[in-house]
Amino acid sequence: MKHKLLNASIAMSVLSLAGCQNAPQYGRDSIEEVIAAMTVEEKAQFVVGTNRVQETPPDSPKGIKRYPEQCEGAVATLQTQGKVQGAAGQHFDIPRLGIPAFVYADGPAGVRIDPKRENDEGEYYCTAFPTETALAATWDIDLVERTTKAMGEEAKEYGVDVLLAPAINIHRNPLCGRNFEYFSEDPLLVGKMAAAYINGVQKNNVGVSLKHYAVNNQETHRNGVNAQLSMRALREIYLRGFEIAIRESQPWTIMSSYNKVNGIFASENHWLLTEVLRGTDGSKGGTFEVPFQGFVMTDWWAQENGVRQQLAGNDLIMPGTQRQLDEIIEGINNGSLPDSIIDQNIYRILKTMEKSTAATGYKYSNKPDLADHAKVTREVASDGMVLLKNDLTGTSKALPFEAGTKVALFGNACYDILVGGSGSGNVNRKYKVSLAEGMENAGFAVDEPVKKAYTSYLDAEKAKVPAENFWTIPVFAELSLSEAQVTEAMKNSDAAIITICRMAGEGGDRKAVAGDYLLTDTEAANIALVCKTAHAAGKKAIVVLNMGNIIDMNAVLAANPDAVLHAWLGGQEAGNSIADVLSGKVNPSGKLPMTWAKNYQDYASSKNFPFSVADSIVNYEEDIYVGYRQFDKGSVKPLYPFGFGLSYTTFEYSDFEVKNDNGKIVATVAVKNTGAVAGRESVQLYQSAPSSAEWEKPVKELKAFAKTKILQPGETQKLTMTIEKFDAMSWNEKQNCWSVDNGDYTYSVAANAEDVKLSKAISISATK
Ligand code: BGC
Repeated sequence: MKHKLLNASIAMSVLSLAGCQNAPQYGRDSIEEVIAAMTVEEKAQFVVGTNRVQETPPDSPKGIKRYPEQCEGAVATLQTQGKVQGAAGQHFDIPRLGIPAFVYADGPAGVRIDPKRENDEGEYYCTAFPTETALAATWDIDLVERTTKAMGEEAKEYGVDVLLAPAINIHRNPLCGRNFEYFSEDPLLVGKMAAAYINGVQKNNVGVSLKHYAVNNQETHRNGVNAQLSMRALREIYLRGFEIAIRESQPWTIMSSYNKVNGIFASENHWLLTEVLRGTDGSKGGTFEVPFQGFVMTDWWAQENGVRQQLAGNDLIMPGTQRQLDEIIEGINNGSLPDSIIDQNIYRILKTMEKSTAATGYKYSNKPDLADHAKVTREVASDGMVLLKNDLTGTSKALPFEAGTKVALFGNACYDILVGGSGSGNVNRKYKVSLAEGMENAGFAVDEPVKKAYTSYLDAEKAKVPAENFWTIPVFAELSLSEAQVTEAMKNSDAAIITICRMAGEGGDRKAVAGDYLLTDTEAANIALVCKTAHAAGKKAIVVLNMGNIIDMNAVLAANPDAVLHAWLGGQEAGNSIADVLSGKVNPSGKLPMTWAKNYQDYASSKNFPFSVADSIVNYEEDIYVGYRQFDKGSVKPLYPFGFGLSYTTFEYSDFEVKNDNGKIVATVAVKNTGAVAGRESVQLYQSAPSSAEWEKPVKELKAFAKTKILQPGETQKLTMTIEKFDAMSWNEKQNCWSVDNGDYTYSVAANAEDVKLSKAISISATK
């Protein structure tokens, strides 16, 4: 029997008129009483949410279906206008029981809602912050927490209850289309960054949805692909970030992923969503150290079976379809979905949301402090930028520029900078600062003829295509530069800057082809021409990368630029943030959260990324050897190791101590600024565990990190890094549990994965 939503909704309003006086009220009476008063239809509707109504789900332009089935009968059709327009979805409210409609909005780089509303003069812009990879590159827990506290304030002041972020899948392969939305290849950095992110947002009594749980490391066929991997890789690499984040920040909600994990869809996977996540399997250390307390929601339109999702512990289906609603009603009625389960799932949602703005009736202002948040995004973006190269030109380094330097700016991104990726991670910001504007704001003269050539070209190109939308952020082919044009510009300038930009977004992966992972012929020719002409005139040439992830650098480096800065997708103030680094106002202290190989094929995962079309399986053959764990083991050296990043100053490490404090490892090291300018250093602490043929361990693993304050020349700071007992463990496949091997453990402090400064060995004996 089809239960039409409309009928259910009419039935609800009749009920609400009749029983409203005496019905238990959420927020006044106990949650158990409220649940006991719900009808079967109300229960089913409550666990099946609605979506953004103004966007009918289309197929993506890349030909990839965002939604696996057409959304006919989607619950969404009942909602005329969302409570907060442009939010990704909301709950059905049940007014007779005092249950409000909770609002869920994307996403990782800031709050995604519509900036304008019909018949409304108001503006609802949000701050576009740097994407997550750029946040991770700061290696700065406090700064990330401060940034996301600002994001959370925007959510709260616009009436959003849960921010659908952070996204923490692993950078298994550089071509994953959503890597920019994810932090890193290393699970410890991921977990610590996620915890900082979550703690910042949740300070506002706004929740997060930690996503996508789990093993969603590619976009190709994301709705059906089966990620096949060992228990050890799952535990040590792909679940570890979730475990750390839950332990250190207890997110309100978790979003299950679309894909299958070892044959079972994540949203129907009882083992993942209940046994591991909530610690109910009771096996030796097999579950998360601290169980998850909030509720789980599906990713959008994960259209698996509604009853199986509920039974697995997927409490909320976002947004559900008529079919899923019918399945749940039928399941409750025929007993295949026991009351104890549906009631428990509803309880988790209502309990978690007690603190939300909707439940507490918080009177949001619709006026967050955007001016203050612009300062925050400017600061965090420059802190995450990574200086990859900085050669001597004459007697000084190429960067920073001296005051008054005249610059010629080549490349589209100088005038139309990319500030975030496409898809749900894109933010509707009020403005963006281009690199040209940023340089001018910082007092540098920008070559006018070159500027004019680019701005006229870009204006003409933009007029030919639709403006930025959910799926597409237009990126244009680069102008083909002429020798005469560059020679003329270099006569009048002291330095050239040339940008390369790349866009990516959900729904598709990147490709190892020209124009994506590789440079186009025009890009390569432009860089070569600009570097050659600048050098011939005795001037500097600087490359700035404007992209969420990485590209092949062979053609870039072959042109021999004097400096290379990776500026990521730096949020709406990106131009100012880059200028802050180029001018030396900010000394770069960002370090890479991923290993950057010389060639794409050097990544072990390139053999089976994205997946085997024949059987929809992606086989994680490289197992735990992802990123630097792979490169440490093999003979191929990376171009830039994990954790790499230069500074305008130099640092010296000394007085390294390591103690075993009852299973906790406590390390201290002194870091001194030995150069001529103030700067910050982030320090990595690696563990090398004893290895044997039966139980091979990676050569080393990141176990903690810390960043200094701004150290003046000659100043020293002592940093302390702690490894919790659980973090020192590895997954023992034989015993199916986390454990520590007896033996000598080496701890090393390093500036990056290939630059170990000091090491100490201590002996540890097994416990768990
Ligand atoms: C994405 C999620 C996002 C959701 C809501 C999905 O397509 O995978 O990350 O939160 O849409 O917009």
